[in-house]
Amino acid sequence: MEAKNISEKVEYLLSIMTLAEKIGQLNQTGTTMVSALPGIEADIDGWVSDMMEGRISQEEFSKRMELCREDLKTEQIENGGIGSFVNLYDDEKIFQVQQAAMKSRLKIPLFIGVDVIRGYRTIFPTPLAMSCSWDMDNYRRMIKIAKKEAKVCGVNWVFGPMLDIARDARWGRIVESPGEDPYLASRIAKTVVNAFQENDAYGRLLCTAKHFLAYGAVSGGQDYNTVDVSERTLYETYLPPFRAAVDAGVGSVMSAFHDLNGVPCTCSHSLLTDLLRGELHFQGFVVSDAEAVKQCVAHGVASDERDAAKMSLQAGNDIDMSSLDYSRFLPDLVDKGEVSVSSINEAVRRVLYAKFFFGIMDEPYRYDPGKISDTVLCRKHRIAAREVAEKSAVLLKNDGVLPIRDSVKHILVTGGLAEDRAALLGPWAFTGDKESVVTVTDGIRNNAPSGVTVEFCRGFDTSDSESGFEEMIKKAEKSDLVIAVVGESAFMSGEAASKVNLNLPGAQEKAMLQLAALSVPCIAVLVSGRPLTIGKLQNNPGIGAILETWHMGCESGNAMADLLFGKCNPSGKLTVTFANEAAQEPMYYNHPNTGKPGGKFKFTSKYQDAPVEPLYPFGYGLSYTAFAYSGMRVSKKKLELGDTLNCEICVRNTGLYAGEEIVQMYIRDVTASCARPVRELKRFCKIKLEPGEEKICSFALHASELGFYRQDCTYTVETGMFQIFIGPDSSKGEMLEIELCD
Ligand code: BGC
Repeated sequence: MEAKNISEKVEYLLSIMTLAEKIGQLNQTGTTMVSALPGIEADIDGWVSDMMEGRISQEEFSKRMELCREDLKTEQIENGGIGSFVNLYDDEKIFQVQQAAMKSRLKIPLFIGVDVIRGYRTIFPTPLAMSCSWDMDNYRRMIKIAKKEAKVCGVNWVFGPMLDIARDARWGRIVESPGEDPYLASRIAKTVVNAFQENDAYGRLLCTAKHFLAYGAVSGGQDYNTVDVSERTLYETYLPPFRAAVDAGVGSVMSAFHDLNGVPCTCSHSLLTDLLRGELHFQGFVVSDAEAVKQCVAHGVASDERDAAKMSLQAGNDIDMSSLDYSRFLPDLVDKGEVSVSSINEAVRRVLYAKFFFGIMDEPYRYDPGKISDTVLCRKHRIAAREVAEKSAVLLKNDGVLPIRDSVKHILVTGGLAEDRAALLGPWAFTGDKESVVTVTDGIRNNAPSGVTVEFCRGFDTSDSESGFEEMIKKAEKSDLVIAVVGESAFMSGEAASKVNLNLPGAQEKAMLQLAALSVPCIAVLVSGRPLTIGKLQNNPGIGAILETWHMGCESGNAMADLLFGKCNPSGKLTVTFANEAAQEPMYYNHPNTGKPGGKFKFTSKYQDAPVEPLYPFGYGLSYTAFAYSGMRVSKKKLELGDTLNCEICVRNTGLYAGEEIVQMYIRDVTASCARPVRELKRFCKIKLEPGEEKICSFALHASELGFYRQDCTYTVETGMFQIFIGPDSSKGEMLEIELCD
């Protein structure tokens, strides 16, 4: 539908809407639980705390829940008081609420917004894991399936992609992020937005760039905490992926929970109006984060929720996610002349425009249970989930024990996580079902070559208990190989899951050290949402290999087995730095040099008790084969401002296996008016090479891409010397110098 056409329809609708109906479009709600018995109040949150803190038993909790029913708020929908739902993902209920909307005066369908973070019913690896594939086709494959499943189930709005650059592994939401690099994150942003929103066989699916802005920089890595970053850092580090999403036409943006340089993002006019709409030319609508409108009171910038509603709307926050403050206070605020009807119209206009553009108005949800069951978690989707997962794993260490050799006849799988379906599924997967997950033991058992026996012994888990060690050691001694699954359970990362200790939780490290002391080879399969401080495993010769699998989703066990047995070759590379110690966080590769670099002498920038280098740098990842880089060339040693620089390097597979390599190109601006990062990623490519094969990788970079934001936040390209690196990660590679001239 053409923009003009849509605008006309929107204006017509606006002209016939009552104020209450308009405010309804800005009101997003979830379903609530209400008591089925008169006189008893449903206090679910209170009951959850009571149960978690031992005041009531689990049975008592379940009994109380049985006395509740879910309120779909159909009456309010029929009155035009609700415009969208958050996280309603039961397809039958979606149908019910859409039917209620069809009974409203104007019959405007609802937005059904859900956190489709990494698949819908078929759950793929976490976003952080996905980013380690550096593979845009991999993303497209995942998104197309997520889109198909979500749409067939009635979801018409996705709260993603999450585009928060994350440089601090203490922050639990690093698991949802595209990693620490703005260039890679921008490529991901563009790919994901296009894949969701383009008009393909499944139509368009509205998506949301979140959380605007700089949520990854929460102080101390503590979730929801204050963010204080310079404007220059905002432009250079945190803004680029959002800019890319806006350029790709993202339909909505979610404002973040925290306060940015003193002002909560939800009610920041400079952020939501001046920067997002004014400078980035964002045309869509803004939704707050959950209950973030009312949180402006707790932040201490709004005197009460009425004030919070007024400030948020006026700042440019169009939809109130689940505070209900817009629906409670906007009528009176308009009545008293404190909020103008035109500002309400402006917000509603944006929302309605999106409802037309994304096909919600044309295509009320057609509920088809048969089609749903044929589509979700079908064989084809599961195969994709397995292959996509394989590309996300990162091989961190290998002394040759992987891929598993033919001589291995008996394998011991140990560690509670190996059987923990919820952990393998990981956080932010509530639309999935843990029963759909293939465990590590099952995966290894089902894919082992014939004649190989596989035994599971729990041995340890993420708790402090060592009671299973003895049995585990006995069984390990009788095996040819131990596969120990270590790391984090599902809720150790994600929202409100920050940590100060990044070691393997519980007794896992102790268990690993005991296994390492045996003469039987031992492999660590890491399941985690974030980088962990695993130096002791890396440095222990008794641990033959470490494979970071993150949380791989429903095909975990099968994908791991394919990697371990060498049916596929690990190709992922880290998109976040692994520190040696949690106290080094935030640790990231693209920092400026200090005035005292070097680390050898006393008065240099370093710690006394940890190496200055990370445990594993950004971009790092091994393969079962080896790649040699040689013959780097640049097209010009002297570049002019309008020129394009062409660089190339030859990469050869010198090992025994076919494999994929992610070739990375970085720059360093040697002298500039601001201190520039020691390296900045500018290009990458992924190539597949057979043993003995070589390929030339070429990159083209326009001189304008050598610029940066100066102190006054203007983007400038400064002449002078630049170093160009091409290599396998952010710490290695060949280097050539070029000069940029006027
Ligand atoms: C999260 C958002 C999410 C929303 C709805 C919030 O707590 O910060 O990322 O989209 O909940 O689930």
